[in-house]
This record gives sequence, C-alpha cells and structure tokens, in this order.
Amino acid sequence: MTQTLTLTRPDDWHLHLRDGAMLKAVLPETARDFGRAIIMPNLVPPVVTGAQAAAYRDRILAALPEGMAFEPLMTLYLTEDTDPEDVAAAHASGLVKAVKLYPAGATTNSSSGVSNFDKVRPVLEKMAEIGLPLCTHGEVTDHDIDIFDREAVFIDRVLDPIRRATPGLRVVMEHITTKNAADYVASQEQDLGATITTHHLIINRNHILVGGIKPHYYCLPVAKREEHRLALRTAATSGDARYFLGTDSAPHVDAAKESGCGCAGCFTATNTIPLLAHVFEEDGKLENLEKFASQNGPAFYQLPENPGQITLVKSEAATQFPTKIASDDGPVTLFDPGYPIYWSVA
Ligand code: DOR
Ligand code: ZN
Repeated sequence: MTQTLTLTRPDDWHLHLRDGAMLKAVLPETARDFGRAIIMPNLVPPVVTGAQAAAYRDRILAALPEGMAFEPLMTLYLTEDTDPEDVAAAHASGLVKAVKLYPAGATTNSSSGVSNFDKVRPVLEKMAEIGLPLCTHGEVTDHDIDIFDREAVFIDRVLDPIRRATPGLRVVMEHITTKNAADYVASQEQDLGATITTHHLIINRNHILVGGIKPHYYCLPVAKREEHRLALRTAATSGDARYFLGTDSAPHVDAAKESGCGCAGCFTATNTIPLLAHVFEEDGKLENLEKFASQNGPAFYQLPENPGQITLVKSEAATQFPTKIASDDGPVTLFDPGYPIYWSVA
C-alpha cells in the first residue's frame, strides 16, 4: 500500500550553499524540493555588505540548473564594523532577509564574527526599527564553558540581554539543540522564533561517539543528550508557529570531515523532506509537517507561502538515497539516519 502526502512547497530557513564547485554540486539538491532558502553568509571572506550579498545571489542563480526554480533569500554576516545604513539599504531593496550573528570563533568561518556586542548595538537598533530579523548562532565561545553547555549559556549571557536591550528586534534562534532553547522560545510571546535541523531530530551525542567516532554526525552546535533531542521533537512536531525548518545542511568534502581535525557540518539537503516525514509520522504528527516545513517559516519572515506543492510517497521498499554527492572539489557524504526510510518526494 502506498501512501501519499501533498504539502505546500517547503523552504529551508538555514542553508549553507558555499561557492564555486561546491555551490554547483549542492544547489540542485536543495532546489529539487525547496522553493526558497535563507543562505548563510559564512563564505571566505564572509558576505558582509549589501553589494557582496547581491554578487553572491547572482552566483547562486547562475549555478542553478536550467528548468529549476529556486529563490535564494540572502543574509549579511554581522561584524563589529557593519554599517547600519548599508544593512537598511540592502533590506529596503528587498535583497536581504536577515542578518546573521556568529559569535567570533563559534564555528566554521566565524573569525570575523562579534566579540564585543556593544559594538553592534547601532546595527541591532536599526534592524529593530526596520523589522529585519537577526539570525543567531547561539553558542558562547568562552574556553571555560563546556561545549555541551554553550547554547544554554548563550541564552542567559548574550541572547536574553540583547533582546531586553533591543525591544522589537525579531530574532531567530538557529539550529536549536537543547530543551533550554526550546523552553526559552516557548516562554516568549513575540519577536522570537527558532529553526530546528533534521539531523538534531534524529541523533543525540551517543550517535557521534559510541562505537567509534562518526565524523559525518559532527556539527555545531553539537548534538546533545537524548532528553534534548526529545524536546526538539516535541517542539518541531507540535505545529507551534514559533518553530520551523532550517536544515543547516552544511557540505564539506569527505577529506575535510574524515580528518584528524574534522569540520563541523551535516549534509542533509538531499533527504531532509523524506527524513522529516519519517520523524513526524513516527511521532503521530504527520499533519503538522506542512506547518514546520512550509508554513511557519514564511509566517515568521512575513513572506507568502510558496505557490507550488510537493508530493511525498511512502512505499513498501526503502528509498535508495545516494550515499555521496559528487563535486569537483571531492565527494560529500549525505547524512545517514541509520535506519531505512520509506518516504520519497515524487
Ligand atoms: O555544523 C556546522 N557547520 N555549524 C555551523 O554553524 C557552520 C556550518 C558550516 O558552515 O559548515
Ligand atoms: Zn549553519
């Protein structure tokens, strides 16, 4: 018996597309199922100005295969030198949909991020005034804070103070990994949303470390204990408008992952939607998948939902996903949930 499920075409509210050969290889993997994505600006060098975002957008559109429709929603990388007027102009032109805050040193290509939050106050105030959302990589980088505690400490020490000091600033807590973050979102009445990745609904920290280290499960923020994964499942599948999909699909070639100092990032663009159907069905919440993947995000970003639809099919035979995506820089391993998936996108 096959089962089908038709959804408004989804969006990915947090995606890494990179540039050059990698962009060309991974873009079709997202464009196949998604209408739009919020594009992360952590290139080398980062996408800081409106002019850089416009040029990156053009490179993305040039890399899109003929016949595929996809709209990149551009972001600016917040630095201590970011000019509030440049941000406002990039927003007013419709080019930029969010500004990304990386604490300096938090993750891949974040060395230009923010150390002194007072220095970005004028930008944050301008963003509150014009209604431009701030996307946060919510981890402190202090060496004395345990890596598994960095998200919870960020909420108390950085995020909550910023939000109190900047009324009206709309914030997306990106790729939340803890019950603390899900609870913080639930406790706030306005101006706060959160993205949740596919992989954080599937793996906990044991998956990374038990039975041999699994570099393809390593990402930042790192997966936490099982109780946190379960809290994320509850939040994502609840239908609550404050939680929406941001895959954080982050391609690195195998040589960079399977290394003595492996890069952070899980590549999930290709199989995210089937994996989510599995997760939502397992939790008896298939009816809320469309909210999480296709409706809550546009509502937060004050954009229309995508006009098209996708249809998911559940078959008796397990779906055969590729294990790797080829790029001219080398192969990229696709996230493997570790169990068979029977859903696919028609
Ligand atoms: O795992 C991650 N990979 N987390 C990030 O914050 C950055 C991303 C990347 O760019 O590879
Ligand atoms: Zn990311």
